[in-house]
Parts: sequence; C-alpha cells; structure tokens
Amino acid sequence: MKKIDICLTPELIHQHDLTGTVVVVIDILRASSSITTGIAHGVKAIRPVESLGECRELKLKGHIGAAERGGKKVGGFDIGNSPFSYMNPEFEGKKIAMTTTNGTETLRKSKGALQVLIGSFLNYSALLTYVERLPCDILLHCAGWKGKVNMEDTLFAGAIVFGLKQMFEYNSDVPLMAANLYKQARNNLKSAIEGSSHVSRLLNLGLEKDIDFCLKFDEYKIIPVLKGDYITKLKLSDMLF
Ligand code: MLT
Repeated sequence: MKKIDICLTPELIHQHDLTGTVVVVIDILRASSSITTGIAHGVKAIRPVESLGECRELKLKGHIGAAERGGKKVGGFDIGNSPFSYMNPEFEGKKIAMTTTNGTETLRKSKGALQVLIGSFLNYSALLTYVERLPCDILLHCAGWKGKVNMEDTLFAGAIVFGLKQMFEYNSDVPLMAANLYKQARNNLKSAIEGSSHVSRLLNLGLEKDIDFCLKFDEYKIIPVLKGDYITKLKLSDMLF
C-alpha cells in the first residue's frame, strides 16, 4: 500500500528516503501561499534561492527580486513575501527570484524526490485531488521556523492526511497526530493558530491580512511544481498517472 508521512521540519529530512516519493512543500505563512498565488496570477516561473546574494544576482539579470527575512521585506528588493505582492499584474509572464527564511531551504532539501509540489490552503482541493491518485509514496515536508516545528504547516499537513481518508498507510505516528490536530481545529483555523510564533510575528508586523488570506481554502485550482531550478504550474504532461 502507498505510504504517507510528514517531515515536521527540514532538520529531520535525513530521516526520509525521497527516492520515488512525491514531496509536498508546505510553508503556509507565507512562502507556499505566495508561490501558489503568484503562479495562479500568471507569474511565468519562480526560482527559489537560499541566499540574498543569489537573489540579487538574478535580479540584476532581469528577475523580479523577492526577499524576506524574519517576516520582513529585505531592502533593495522589489517585494517581500506577502501573497498580495505576488498578485501584481505587472508580474504576468515574468520570472521571480525568491528567497525566504525557511521556505526556500525546504524546497532545496526536497530535491531528489520524484516530484516536488507546493501546497497551501489556497490550492488545497486541487492538490488533494492530484495526490490521492498518485501511485507512489508521499512526504509532506513542513518548513517550520528556523528548524523548529510550527503550528500552521503541521495543521495543513493534517488537513491533507484527513482529506486522503486513509487511502495511504501512515509511515509514522506523525500523520495521525497531524490529522487529529486538524480535526480539532478545522472549524476555526485562525483561532487554532492564535498565539503561535509566526502568527504573533506577523501580527506584530501588521500583517493580519496575510494571515487571513493564507488560511483561505481553494482560492486557486493550480498546483505549483519545482522542475529543475524553477517553479511553474503543473501541466497535464507533468502528471505521474
Ligand atoms: C518562510 O519562508 O519562512 C516564511 O514564508 C516567512 C514569511 O514569509 O513570513
């Protein structure tokens, strides 16, 4: 039977064999939400990079520069990591170079998988419909915060496990834990993550509207996929079944 597991932080990725596995990268607040938003709004491709230097170099070569550290936009770049910044119609057909505190590292640590997808509440149903038909194991890879586990990514991973209705065998106790967490929280996600570290951080930055938007289900029907160095929209020809 196909197996599903959750890696709660990139610090634990060494415990997982990615060979033949589809990885879903999860960074609800806000990298995977922003990536999903950008691709849904017509951004041609997004290149995740880990350092500000790489991002700056790509910006000089014509990419839109998106840089966030500690939840804040980094000076000298075009945008930070708010999903609302990724809705800019001027970005349609353009390439974005993106570096964030955790999400871009999580993407890098997912390389080696059969396929690397990006998941958010914003594309929940589209993602669920695709992964439930996959013929292989799945790993839900949570970005967390600076190596630590966080609430919102774990909740989303639980929402995926819950939605799969046990079509996959659990490869550890984490899917059961996360699914139970989601069952308790699903009627009011925002109150479930109230007081969590990144919500507090974003609220202190006046970014409650980002939190509210990133908790919306099914705003978009697209699935971003990392192919080589770039994230683009999953096409029929990319599908593994
Ligand atoms: C991250 O990559 O850790 C987050 O997306 C940070 C943020 O945008 O607040």
